[in-house]
Amino acid sequence: MIQLIRGFKDILQPEGRLWQRIETEARRLFESHGYHEIRLPILEKTELFARSIGETTDIVEKEMYTFTDRGGESLTLRPEATASVVRAYIQHKLSGTEPIRKLYTIGPMFRRERPQKGRYRQFYQIDVEAFGIASPYVDAQMILMLASLLERLGVTGISAHVNSLGCPDCRPPYRENLKAFIEEKASELCDDCLRRRDKNPLRVLDCKNESCRKAMAQAPELLDKLCKPCAEHFATVRKELDKRDISYKVDKRLVRGLDYYTRTAFELQTDMLGAQSSVAGGGRYDGLVKTLGGPDIPAIGFAIGFDRLVEVIAQTLPPEECPPHVFFIPLGEKAMEKAFDLCMQLAEQGIHSETDYSGRSLKALMKRADRLAASLVVIMGDNELSTGSVTLKSMATGEQETVSMEGLIQTLVQGFRKA
Ligand code: HAM
Repeated sequence: MIQLIRGFKDILQPEGRLWQRIETEARRLFESHGYHEIRLPILEKTELFARSIGETTDIVEKEMYTFTDRGGESLTLRPEATASVVRAYIQHKLSGTEPIRKLYTIGPMFRRERPQKGRYRQFYQIDVEAFGIASPYVDAQMILMLASLLERLGVTGISAHVNSLGCPDCRPPYRENLKAFIEEKASELCDDCLRRRDKNPLRVLDCKNESCRKAMAQAPELLDKLCKPCAEHFATVRKELDKRDISYKVDKRLVRGLDYYTRTAFELQTDMLGAQSSVAGGGRYDGLVKTLGGPDIPAIGFAIGFDRLVEVIAQTLPPEECPPHVFFIPLGEKAMEKAFDLCMQLAEQGIHSETDYSGRSLKALMKRADRLAASLVVIMGDNELSTGSVTLKSMATGEQETVSMEGLIQTLVQGFRKA
């Protein structure tokens, strides 16, 4: 038997309903904040990701699904959505008439990481981006909107971490400082950190390796070295969060794994997913639109790891079943034709009913109704049909009544609306 690819997964029911519920709630909330959906291809030119995410990041160095197509072009399955959203923003000149654009997109991303709980090679993101607003109020709005989504979904046990990564004025001198510190500690660091120290020294700060953590414990912090505008920006973000009583933590070691960030960076973390603690992450990327050939426009965004969010919610929420309201048990050819007709009519009224075309016995079909957890069954034999009435039975109480065929649909619809 052919199995699916390692690190990929099928989403089956009843889990699928949880995905739908989250998506519906997210769309509703985003639209009410003025964000609108865009849909983008999952394949892009490789260069787009190399130039935006950063040549020395793990994603670009080791995780992308890149191949040469039959025309000799290097293409990559998108490892994240931000680069594509920025590409579309520039390509369609969305900044032209109205530079402020608030967008979201939902779909699969691909990273060839080592698969484990909460980490897949195809995973889904709910990605949100806002262009054209430099103000820290939009940073706060993003974090608050994310927190509100989680609250609406009944999520607990997630904490928000925020930091500021500075700007092209204050980050370079800090980087030099940090590099000097790393040099002193070089003998205690892992190979990955040593490889990264020149091009991406900030990543050394969030290495999970115990000896690297110890060695870096006294490292200088960027948050203490921000320039005045960056410090004020961060202070306003914090002030807005404080006013709203959302619980968050300033995490000086939060650096994120993508190179495009400036100023505010944030992550929602949980301890419910083992090593994969980040449920959502994002931040400001004021230079990226320009780097990719567009105008000098600030931007900020975040992405929720959809798979991880589902896994967190599923731990506290029983799977939502979707039983039919009615199960028709047809006993005979004519009854089957009638049952089919009734199912079609109820579906048109938004009511889910089921029937069975196997011709099996009443006992067998009662068992199936029970398995499906239908609320009501309608037993209809050819003889009963000729007298114009059928038997309606409540599966919960076992009560039975005879109902005329004429009034059946109305009775079922009324019962459904009351339930
Ligand atoms: P990211 O932190 O790389 O950021 O990914 C965002 C979220 O996607 C993570 O917090 C995690 O929940 C989920 N995720 C990442 N990799 C995997 C994986 N292999 N399996 C399952 N879930 C995963 C970004 O992608 C940025 N584009 C976010 C952003 C938008 N920044 C600004 N705008």
